[in-house]
Amino acid sequence: MVRETRLSPDQLMLPLFAVGGSGVEIPIEALPGQSRQSPDVLARRARAALDAGVPAVLLFGIPEHKDAAATGAYDANGVVQHAIAAIKDAAPDLVVVTDVCLCAYTDHGHCGVVVDGRVHNDMSIELIARTAVSHADAGADVVAPSDMMDGRVGAIRAALDAEGREETAILSYAVKYASAFYGPFREAAGSAPGFGDRRGYQMDPANGREALREVAQDEAEGADMMMVKPAAAYLDVIAAVRGATSLPLAAYHVSGEYAMLVAAARLGWLDERDAALETLTAIRRAGADVIITYHAERAAQWLATG
Ligand code: PBG
Repeated sequence: MVRETRLSPDQLMLPLFAVGGSGVEIPIEALPGQSRQSPDVLARRARAALDAGVPAVLLFGIPEHKDAAATGAYDANGVVQHAIAAIKDAAPDLVVVTDVCLCAYTDHGHCGVVVDGRVHNDMSIELIARTAVSHADAGADVVAPSDMMDGRVGAIRAALDAEGREETAILSYAVKYASAFYGPFREAAGSAPGFGDRRGYQMDPANGREALREVAQDEAEGADMMMVKPAAAYLDVIAAVRGATSLPLAAYHVSGEYAMLVAAARLGWLDERDAALETLTAIRRAGADVIITYHAERAAQWLATG
């Protein structure tokens, strides 16, 4: 009765990785229990998550073809676009959120267009906005820009509205650190930068106050929901952002944070269930309304069985 923080399945969002083809399921070694799936297999997994009580998924695409202009990102026949349709077919009530970024679609692995060895901010946001519209056209309920380019929330909002997609919401990766904890994800998505790093556009882990500036800017540009990422190593940032905005707040317990728990559990050094539920509860206690986690489906099952 006096417990201050509750964790329930309807606060969780499950990340999923889409590849082309059918009947395809390729396990991701560094993310045990997660795999790359073709739209048909992915739709079944999404349906199972919904049945377990998880109301939303976050979709990533892994294209066969990469090029300098990231054309696969905004192709109406792209891998994410097909996956959205398959999920909506299998689970119409599931909220489909799509990660909007170019890094998995560019041949150099950066989140934008590279000109003279540098990521060009304004050329990048044009393609990012185009990608968001194409996801909305395919049926996405929410688009989640993760690139950290300046001005992309406003550009996406304007592009969606111009196409009659006023109802598509924007979940902004407003506070995204240049983190070592994305390692397993980059293996999964094949999106490690081919040169340099992401410190030009992602945040310095040493900076806390800067998070509030990012949030204020994205709120002014029309974001509907904010995100802090990673989560467990940034609980102070989650708490500060919670105090600075009245918008719903999501926290992303990222691939490396998940992999650490699972690896220690496999060595018999941690109890995975207890450690995962404690971590997710701590993220809620810090102030997150929603947690994006690779544990979503299993946590929902653990919570249901008490
Ligand atoms: C794409 C993106 C990344 C993640 C989500 N979207 C990788 C990155 O920025 O390098 C990481 C998610 C995770 O580690 O689980 N920009």
